[in-house]
Amino acid sequence: MRLKSFILKITLFFAAFVVIFCIPYLAAEESEFRRQFIENYKKDSFYAQSGLVKKNKDTIVSEIDALINEAMMPEKNFQERMYLLDIANSMASMNIHWNNGSEDVLNRVEKLQKQEFEKEKKKTEEIERLKEAEKVPGNFILSTYKDEMAKHGLSPVIYPHWIHRSFFRCKVCHEPIFIMKRGSNNITRTSILEGKHCGACHNGKISFDANAQENCTRCHLFGKPESNPLMDLSYYNHDKFKEIASRIGSEWNPEKLPGGKLPLDKLGFINWVELDKIKAFNPRSALDGTPDTEGVRDTSILFETSVTFLNNVLFSHRIHSTWVRCSLCHPDIFKPELGANKVKMIEMKDGKSCGRCHGRVAFTYSNCLRCHNQPRENIPQGALINRAGSSAPAQ
Ligand code: HEC
Ligand code: HEC
Ligand code: HEC
Ligand code: HEC
Ligand code: HEC
Ligand code: HEC
Repeated sequence: MRLKSFILKITLFFAAFVVIFCIPYLAAEESEFRRQFIENYKKDSFYAQSGLVKKNKDTIVSEIDALINEAMMPEKNFQERMYLLDIANSMASMNIHWNNGSEDVLNRVEKLQKQEFEKEKKKTEEIERLKEAEKVPGNFILSTYKDEMAKHGLSPVIYPHWIHRSFFRCKVCHEPIFIMKRGSNNITRTSILEGKHCGACHNGKISFDANAQENCTRCHLFGKPESNPLMDLSYYNHDKFKEIASRIGSEWNPEKLPGGKLPLDKLGFINWVELDKIKAFNPRSALDGTPDTEGVRDTSILFETSVTFLNNVLFSHRIHSTWVRCSLCHPDIFKPELGANKVKMIEMKDGKSCGRCHGRVAFTYSNCLRCHNQPRENIPQGALINRAGSSAPAQ
C-alpha cells in the first residue's frame, strides 16, 4: 500500500512537472497580456512580471476568469487543465502582492486545483485497483452500467472465470449463454432476473440467487475487501468446492491434489491441464437442457516452426475440445483443415488466433515454452503436421 501511494505521488509530481515546464502554449486565442505573463513566468523574469501585473491592474481579474473558464471546459484533459489553473494561480498571487488585489480570486483557483487533483488521484487509484483485480487471468470487471449500479449504491461486478471453470467447461457458457467477447452481452438486471446470462445459474437452484437482497454484494464487489479471496485464490477451500461440485453434479477430488494444494504454473496461476491429468476435478460439459452434442476430437496437430532456435508447437484437439465447442473455433478462428491456418505471434497480442483465449482466460502467451514444447527433431507419434509456418521464409 505504502509503495503504491509513493508511486502515485511520484506520478503526480511528474505530471505537475510536465504541466509547469513542458506544455507549450495551449490557448488559441491568448491575450497579449497572457502571452507576456507566461513568457515571464517561464523565464522567471521577476521584474518584468511585476511591471506587467501593475500595468494591467484593471483587467487582470477578468484575465484570470478567462483562464479559469478555459481550464474548466469539458474537452480539456488533466494536464491542460492544471497548466491553465497554474497560470491563473500565479496571476492571482501576483495580483495580491503587487496590486493589493482580492484574496477571493486566489482562493477560487486553489479550490479548483485541489478538486481537480483529487479527481485525478481517484481516477489513477481506480485504474490501479482494476489492474490488481484483473491480474488473475479471466477475472473481469463488468462495469458497462457503472452509473446505474452507483445509483443503487452498488459497485461494479467481478466475474471470476477461475471459480466457474472449476465446475463448468467453457462450452457450458460459450456460446450458449455468453458471446466470448467482453462487453458484447448487454447483461442487465432484467436479463438476469429473466434467467438469462448470470441468471441461468444464479437463481437459487444451481447457485446463489441474484434476486435476494443479501446476495447483491456477492457479485457487486469490485473495490471491496470481500473481493480479495477472488484475487489471491483464497476463495478456494476443499470443503466448499466439494459441496458446490456435489450440488451441481460435477466432481472435485481434493485428495488427488499434490500436497493438498491447487497445482500452479510458473507464473503462479492455476494449471488446469494438470488438474485434468490427475483427475482432481471433472467440470460439467453442459447444463441440463443445453447438451454438448459436438463431443471431443482426439487428434494432435504439430505446428512446425521456421525459426531455428524455437521448438515446434503441439496443439491437442483433445484438451481444447474438452473445454471448448468445435463451433467456437471453427470456422471463425481456424479453418478446420490441416495446414490451412498460418499462425503468427503478432496476431495473438491483438487477441486473434490462439490469443482469443491465451493471455485472456487460458494461460498467457508470455509462457512461451508451454506451447513451443516439442524439440524439432521429435515428431510425436500420430501427430498431424501443419507446415504453414515452416514454409515461410526464416526471419
Ligand atoms: C459460467 C460462464 C462462463 C464460463 C464457464 C466461461 N466463461 Fe468466458 N466469459 C464469461 C463471461 C460472463 C464473459 C464476459 C462477457 C461480457 O463482458 O459480456 C466471458 C468472456 C470471455 C472471453 C472474452 C475476453 C475478451 O477479452 O474479450 C474469453 C476469451 C473467454 N471468456 C474464454 C473462456 C474460456 C477459455 C473458458 C473456459 C476455460 C471460459 N471462458 C469459461 C463467462 C464464462
Ligand atoms: C453455469 C452456471 C453459472 C453462471 C452462468 C454464472 N455463475 Fe457465478 N457461480 C456459479 C457457481 C456454481 C458458483 C459457486 C458458488 C456457489 O454456488 O456456492 C458461482 C460463484 C460466483 C461468484 C463467487 C462469489 C461467491 O460469493 O461465491 C461470483 C462473484 C459469481 N459467481 C459471479 C457471476 C456473474 C457476475 C455471472 C454472470 C456474468 C455468473 N456468475 C454466471 C455458477 C454460475
Ligand atoms: C450473479 C451476479 C449478480 C448478482 C448476485 C447481482 N447482480 Fe446486479 N448485475 C450483475 C451484472 C453482471 C451486471 C451488469 C454489469 C455491467 O456490465 O455493468 C449487473 C447490473 C446491475 C445493475 C445495473 C444495470 C441495470 O440493469 O440497471 C443494477 C441496478 C443491479 N445489477 C442491481 C442488483 C441488485 C439490486 C442485486 C441484488 C438484489 C444484484 N444486482 C445482484 C450481476 C449480479
Ligand atoms: C498459445 C500458444 C503459444 C504461445 C504461448 C507462444 N507461441 Fe509462438 N507460436 C505458436 C504457434 C502455433 C506458432 C506457429 C508455428 C511456428 O511458426 O512456430 C508460433 C510461432 C512463433 C514464431 C514464428 C512465427 C512468428 O510469428 O514470428 C515465433 C518467433 C514465436 N512463435 C515465438 C514465441 C515466443 C517468443 C513466445 C513467448 C513470448 C511464444 N512464441 C509463445 C504458439 C504459441
Ligand atoms: C481451440 C480451438 C479448436 C477447437 C475447440 C477445435 N478445433 Fe479443430 N482445429 C483447430 C486448429 C488450430 C486446427 C489446425 C488447422 C491447421 O492445421 O491449419 C484444427 C483442425 C481441425 C481439423 C483438420 C485436422 C484434423 O484433426 O483432422 C478438423 C477436421 C477439425 N479441426 C475438427 C474439429 C472438431 C470436430 C472439433 C470439435 C470436436 C474441433 N475441431 C475443435 C482448433 C480447434
Ligand atoms: C477458444 C479458446 C482457446 C483457443 C483459441 C486456443 N486455446 Fe489453447 N487452451 C485453451 C484452454 C482453456 C486450455 C487449458 C489450459 C488453460 O486454460 O490455461 C488450453 C491449453 C493449451 C495447451 C496445453 C498446455 C499444457 O500444459 O499442456 C497448449 C499447448 C495450447 N493450449 C496451445 C494453443 C495453440 C497453439 C492455440 C492456437 C493454435 C490455442 N491453444 C488456441 C483455450 C484455447
